[in-house]
Amino acid sequence: MPLRQPEYRRYLVPVDTSSTQQLFCDCLVIGAGIAGLRAAIEAAETCNVVLVTKSTLTDSNTWNAQGGIASVLGEEDSLEEHVADTLQTGCGLCDESIVRLVVSHGPELVHQLLDWGTDFDMIDGRIDITREGGHSKARIAHAHGDSTGRGIAEALIQKAREKQNINVIERFFAIDLITNQDKQCLGIIGYCAGRGFQIIRSSNTILATGGAGRLYRETTNPHIATADGLAMAYRAGVVLRDMEFMQFHPTTLYIAGASRALITETLRGEGAYLLDNKGRRFMSEYHEAAELAPRDIVSRAILDRMLSTKSTHVYLDVRHFDKNHFAKRFPLISELCESFDIDVSTDLIPVRPSAHYMIGGVKTDIEARTNIANLYACGEVASTGLHGANRLGSNSLLEGLVFGRIAGRQATQHRHHGVNGMTFHRMKYEIPTSDRSRLDTDDVRNSLRALMWRNVGITRKGKHLEEAEDIIRFWQQYVIDKVFDSPYGWECQNMLTVAALMTHAARTRTESRGVHYRQDYPKRNDAQFAHHIEQSDMV
Ligand code: FUM
Repeated sequence: MPLRQPEYRRYLVPVDTSSTQQLFCDCLVIGAGIAGLRAAIEAAETCNVVLVTKSTLTDSNTWNAQGGIASVLGEEDSLEEHVADTLQTGCGLCDESIVRLVVSHGPELVHQLLDWGTDFDMIDGRIDITREGGHSKARIAHAHGDSTGRGIAEALIQKAREKQNINVIERFFAIDLITNQDKQCLGIIGYCAGRGFQIIRSSNTILATGGAGRLYRETTNPHIATADGLAMAYRAGVVLRDMEFMQFHPTTLYIAGASRALITETLRGEGAYLLDNKGRRFMSEYHEAAELAPRDIVSRAILDRMLSTKSTHVYLDVRHFDKNHFAKRFPLISELCESFDIDVSTDLIPVRPSAHYMIGGVKTDIEARTNIANLYACGEVASTGLHGANRLGSNSLLEGLVFGRIAGRQATQHRHHGVNGMTFHRMKYEIPTSDRSRLDTDDVRNSLRALMWRNVGITRKGKHLEEAEDIIRFWQQYVIDKVFDSPYGWECQNMLTVAALMTHAARTRTESRGVHYRQDYPKRNDAQFAHHIEQSDMV
C-alpha cells in the first residue's frame, strides 16, 4: 500500500541556482560519523572532497558509541560464526552476501584503525575483546573502556585532517539533494551558518547522515539525529526500505527529568544483572540466554516487567563487580553514575529502553549505490541488508567502516563522469505562500516524539498505528506547506516525513519479526512477510 505524503514538495526551500553561491567538488560527503569520515578518507585518494556536517565533527552517534566494534579478532572465533550470529539475529531478512562481505573485511579494517591511531584496549599485545548479547563469541573491540566511538572518531578525524584535499564544513545543514530529470544526483542545496544558502555541485554524493532516534521521546541519540538524510532522500525519489525496524536499546539511564544516556550492553556482556523493582532477576523467565539475549527480547522483557510491576524502570546490578576494575573498564559510565550520586558498588542503576538505531533506510547495493545515479549511501542512513530485522550490537560501526570505504572507492572510480558531464541547467523552484495557520514548531516536535514513543514504540498494534498516521498527516498539512529559514523548522518537516514512513511501514507489516513487534500479530509470518517493505515517492 503506497503512501503519498500530503503537501508533496520536492524541495523544502525555493531554489534558484543563478542567485545562490555554488561550490564544486568531485565528491561530497554528508555526515561525519564513522561512515562519512571513512568514505571521505577513501575518496580523497583521487577526488577533491567536501565533507559537510550539520553540527561539528565531534557530534555524532559514532562519537557516543560505547560498547565497541564487532569483528573476528580472537583465536576461538571464526568468520563463519560471526556470519551465523548476524543471520540468526536478523530473523530471515539479512542479505547473506552483504553479511559475508562486511564480516570478512572486519579484521583488516579494525587493524587499520589501530594503525591510524585508535587506542583500542589491548591485552598481551592483541586487541582486547569482550562479549555482547547475540554474539556467540567474544568479538567486541573497545577503546578507553567504554568510549570506543570517540576513540575511533578521533583517529578518523585526524586522518581526514591530514588530507589536503578534504574540505570540512561544519554547521552546514544539507536541506535537499538536487537531481535532474535523468535521475542523476547533482549535489545539494544547504544552509551554512554564517554564510546562508549554498549549493554544492558534485560528481558523486555520499549520504552518511545517520539515524532517526530523535523521532522518539526516549532515545540514546544526540540532538542532531532527526532523520534529515532519510527525508531528503525520499523527496528525491530514492527508495527506502525496512522503515518499520527501529531498534530500541534495553538500557539507558533513567533519572526523571534528566536526558537519557546509554548504559552499554557490554556491562551485561561482562556479568551485570537486570533486576525488577522488587530486586528479582527476571531475564531467565524470558530467554535462556538471560541478560545476553538479543536486544529486542531484552527490551520487550524490560517493558513487560515495568508494566507488570507498575514501575517506570528496572535496574542494572553491578554491585558484584570489583569497584576499581569497574572504574577502569567503564570510566564513562562510572563518571555518569557518580554525577547522579549513584555509587555502583552499593546502589542499583535505574534503566529503561529507548530508541537507539534505525535499521531501515536508503536501499543500497553491494557497491553502496542507490537507485539514483551518482548517489551513494553508507552507515546508519543506509539499508545494506546487513542487519535484517534486528541488528546485532556493535555490527553497525563495522558496517559504517566497510561501506564507508566502498562508497569512497566508488567516488574515486566515477570521478571522470565529472560535474561537467552532467546536465545542470539553471534551476528555479518556487513555493507558493501557504494560507494555512502556523503550528508551534516546538509543540509539534515534542508531541510527535511522544506519539512515536507511545504508538510506534517497542510494541505496536494496528489501531494505534492508524491513529498515529492520522495525527502525523494532520500535522504535516500545517508544517510541510510552510517555508522555514532555519534548521529547526526543516528538521521538523523531515521528522514528520520520516515518522509517516515508519508508521506506515509498521502498519503494513502485520506480523512480528525482530525489532518490529505487533501485539495484534505476535507471530512471525514467513509466508507473507519474508521480504522487505520498500517505499519511494519517485515523481
Ligand atoms: O550497548 C552498546 O554499547 C551499544 C552498542 C551498539 O549499539 O552497537
